[in-house]
Amino acid sequence: MITAQAVVYSEHGEPKDVLRTHTYEIDDDKIAANQIIVKTLGSPVNPSDINQIQGVYPSKPDKTTELGTSEPSAPCGNEGLFEIIKVGSNVSNFKVGDWAVPSNVNFGTWRTHALATEDQFTRLPNPEQSKAAGKPSGLTINQGATILVNPMTAYLMLTHYVQLIPGKDWFIQNGGNSAVGKYAIQISKLLGFNSISVVRDRPNLNELESELKGLGATQVITEEQNGSREFGPTIKNWVKETGGEIKLALNCVGGKNSTGVARKLANNGLMLTYGGMSFQPVILPTSLHIFKNITSAGFWITALLKNDEELKNKTLSKIVEWYENEQLVDAKSLETPFVAGGAKQLHEYYQEAVVNSAKGKQLITY
Ligand SMILES: NC(=O)c1ccc[n+]([C@@H]2O[C@H](COP(=O)([O-])OP(=O)(O)OC[C@H]3O[C@@H](n4cnc5c(N)ncnc54)[C@H](OP(=O)(O)O)[C@@H]3O)[C@@H](O)[C@H]2O)c1
Repeated sequence: MITAQAVVYSEHGEPKDVLRTHTYEIDDDKIAANQIIVKTLGSPVNPSDINQIQGVYPSKPDKTTELGTSEPSAPCGNEGLFEIIKVGSNVSNFKVGDWAVPSNVNFGTWRTHALATEDQFTRLPNPEQSKAAGKPSGLTINQGATILVNPMTAYLMLTHYVQLIPGKDWFIQNGGNSAVGKYAIQISKLLGFNSISVVRDRPNLNELESELKGLGATQVITEEQNGSREFGPTIKNWVKETGGEIKLALNCVGGKNSTGVARKLANNGLMLTYGGMSFQPVILPTSLHIFKNITSAGFWITALLKNDEELKNKTLSKIVEWYENEQLVDAKSLETPFVAGGAKQLHEYYQEAVVNSAKGKQLITY
């Protein structure tokens, strides 16, 4: 018998008010032929996890009594890395020791263990398997636990909508130092695209610029430069030198910042909005639509991949390959190990992680 714990909520609200730890048993002698038991290795706190708990995110898990809670409850967390610790007699995709990530959102990854069916998980190579396959490196827990959202978002936005010509074309993005932004910088470099990353000004701007250029950023500019008419010709010269165009803009900020990045687009360019960090609406001047035929569209990885298993698997394999070949660096998380039976309950780890999210991505490891 395995004693498992999961972080759940019965009512929506702020995580500090509504989360609790639910303890339950998984009978590992009685698993069905197609079932697996997984042990969690790590699960992060993403902005969307918090929004789900608050009840303001369009996709959320059902509230049920499946885990044995006294009232219908939903498990928290969407991303996480798991190790298979037991397989049913008919399971063909997994063996004990394999690593896996949930195949769909809303699985509930803020937990110690789970009983699932094999189709609920997708296999990832564990470090021994990568080594045996002759790869330079194996996945880290942080890479595996955060692989499903940010790196895949960056890759899909850069490749799925607009065909950028390697060596010539450009994309511009705001939130250049966000986790997604750092993956977009690295992936665009791997694919040969030029990038302009807009970041907020700060006292150590030079350090940030060096960091982003170290990751492969072509140019890094501030919000002030993004909004300045005088700075426009500098950008035009950069683009002229490569003989390409700025065909794509990635917007996770909104407000005046999104106007600035959209203005840099060439005729017929596309702006994809995937986040709203400033809480301001996207503002696009009418003339950009009429005279430059700019398109403004949304990007949501959940919707794009929901019914496209092939695209999901292809994208996941690409990111795994780059990690194994040490061509991609993960956006670092601040890791806190969960101590079972310690002074703090499991949900308190995540409540603290939610508060600390402003200092950087939080990962609870097990
Ligand atoms: N639609 C999708 O499928 C999808 C997928 C993944 C992520 N997302 C969204 O993408 C966004 C970024 O996610 P992440 O995990 O990469 O975030 P993150 O690493 O926490 O980075 C947040 C970024 O937002 C910037 N920022 C915050 N407030 C701002 C403001 N008022 N004005 C300008 N910039 C501001 C930060 O800049 P500073 O460093 O200057 O504070 C930082 O660059 C989130 O909204 C997330 O929900 C969406």
